Amino acid sequence: MKTLAVFASGSGTNFEALAQACADGRLDARIALMVCDKPGAAVIDRARRFGIESFVASPKEFPSKADYEREIVRRLDAAGIDLVCLAGYMRLVADTLLNAYRGRIINIHPSLLPAFKGAHAVEDAVAYGVKVYGITIHYVDESLDGGKIIAQRAFAYDGNDPAEVHRLGQVIEHQLYVETVQKLITSL
Ligand code: GAR
Repeated sequence: MKTLAVFASGSGTNFEALAQACADGRLDARIALMVCDKPGAAVIDRARRFGIESFVASPKEFPSKADYEREIVRRLDAAGIDLVCLAGYMRLVADTLLNAYRGRIINIHPSLLPAFKGAHAVEDAVAYGVKVYGITIHYVDESLDGGKIIAQRAFAYDGNDPAEVHRLGQVIEHQLYVETVQKLITSL
């Protein structure tokens, strides 16, 4: 059975989808660590409910981003992590973490990349008048929402309500993340 870490900054519905799939046996893995850079984020309570260990720290508490990431790498190594899943972790991953886990860090993003990168992908796409939206899962590199694409799923929406696009997208995210992680871990 493979060992996962999930990184999140906010609500954590994707974290919960992965944790629930591990609990149900739909995902042949265990989440050994949840990493959160936002003390007070709702994802922390979700991890507690699943009995999953958390590392919660703001990078501001460390002398540098490299020091912050060194501490994360130390904890990932100690937990024997095979795959890191970013799930709404709203921070660029830098060299220290990438050099240690390159090719083993993936991210989920609420657009059909390479369109609409960044923290406001859904709002930007709605403002642009997009009619076909989607979700992307990709390997993480030093760029913002860059890295080779692993999976995408599209959906049609002809309206102008970002909240509805978020709602439709999250239903897809929760399924696609579980399916994609399950496929990836069989080849690790
Ligand atoms: C998700 O929709 C994810 O695609 C997005 O943050 C949300 C987190 O939701 N990630 C990005 O925008 C990354 N650039 P959650 O906290 O409910 O899982």
